[in-house]
Amino acid sequence: MGAPVSPISHTASKYCPHLLFQQVLAVIRWGLFTTMNPVVLRADSLQRSYGDHRALRDVSFEVRRGERVALLGASGSGKSTLIRCLSGLETCDPGTARVEVFGQVLQSQGRNSPQIRALRRRIGVIFQQFNLVGRLSVMHNVLTGLAAGAPLWRAVLGRYDLAHRARALDALDAIGLAPQAFQRASTLSGGQQQRAAIARVLVQGAEMVLADEPVASLDPQSTQRVMEQLAALNRDAGMTLIVSLHHVALAQRFCDRVVALRNGELVYDGPSAALTPAFLERLYGTAAADLLGSHPPADTPWQDNAPPLALAA
Ligand SMILES: Nc1ncnc2c1ncn2[C@@H]1O[C@H](COP(=O)(O)OP(=O)(O)O)[C@@H](O)[C@H]1O
Ligand SMILES: [Mg+2]
Repeated sequence: MGAPVSPISHTASKYCPHLLFQQVLAVIRWGLFTTMNPVVLRADSLQRSYGDHRALRDVSFEVRRGERVALLGASGSGKSTLIRCLSGLETCDPGTARVEVFGQVLQSQGRNSPQIRALRRRIGVIFQQFNLVGRLSVMHNVLTGLAAGAPLWRAVLGRYDLAHRARALDALDAIGLAPQAFQRASTLSGGQQQRAAIARVLVQGAEMVLADEPVASLDPQSTQRVMEQLAALNRDAGMTLIVSLHHVALAQRFCDRVVALRNGELVYDGPSAALTPAFLERLYGTAAADLLGSHPPADTPWQDNAPPLALAA
C-alpha cells in the first residue's frame, strides 16, 4: 500500500529489534523510492503564532511525490494551522519558516512568494466542512476546480465549455455521483458533499492534496467511502496525499506514514504501524485517549484493492 516510509526517521526499531530483516528490506524499498520520487513538499522550521499562543513550533518535515501521509494530533494540536500554511492560505510568522512545494518557494520569512497562484493551482485542498456553495449545482461546484486556471469571468458567470463539463461529469462519475450532478449541492448528504469536493480536486488536476479532517463530521460508512476515494486519488491518480485525522485507527488503516503533532510541535514522523496504544501514551500522555477514540468501525475491513477510481483517460 502506498509509498514506503523512511526507515531512517522512525523509531520503531527501538521497540521491535527482531524485525531486522524487514527493516533491511524497508531500507532497500525506501532507497528505490527516494531515487525515483523527488521531494514535493518541504516544510522548514514552521512557526505560527496567534497573539501569545504558538500554534506551530518549529515544524519541519518533507514529503515525496506519491506518498500518503496522515497528519495526526488531538484537537488544538495545530493540524489545520499546518495545512493552511502548507497550502499558502496562511503565512507563517516572519523568521526562518519556509515552505517549498514542487521545488519552488511557496512562502518564506512570513511572506507568500510571487508564484503562489501558480503553485496553488497544483494543490487541492479539502476541508472538514466541504466548502461547497449550497445553492449551486454539484456540477457547478466541481467546475470551480478549474477556476484557478481559468479567467475570473468564467468562474463568476459559470460559463464553461463542453469539454470542461464533460471533464466534470467524468470526475463525478468516477466517484459515483453522476446521478446527482444537477442537484443543488445543499441537497446532498455530508458524505456525498465531501465526495463532490474530491471530484473538484480531480477536475483541478491537483498533484498534491491536503485534506483537513475530511471525515470528522461523517458517519462511519461515509467515512469509509470518503477515505477510500481519497486513497484512490493517491493510488490511481498519482496524487501525493496529506490528510489530517484525529483517530489513530483511521491513520493506520489508510496511511503508512504518520506525522504527529502535539501542542504545535512535531513529536513523531514514521510508520503508522509503530503507533501502539502504549507508544501513543508515551507521546501524548492522557491526551492519547482522544486519538484512540472509536469513530471508525473496527469491524469494517479496508484493503487497498478497493474498486479503482474510474478515471477518464
Ligand atoms: N485564527 C486563529 N486565531 C486564534 N487562535 C487560533 C486560530 N487558529 C487556530 N488557533 C489556535 O491554534 C491552536 C491550533 O489550532 P488548530 O490548528 O485549529 O488545531 P487542530 O486543527 O489540530 O485542532 C489552537 O490552540 C487554536 O485555538
Ligand atoms: Mg483542525
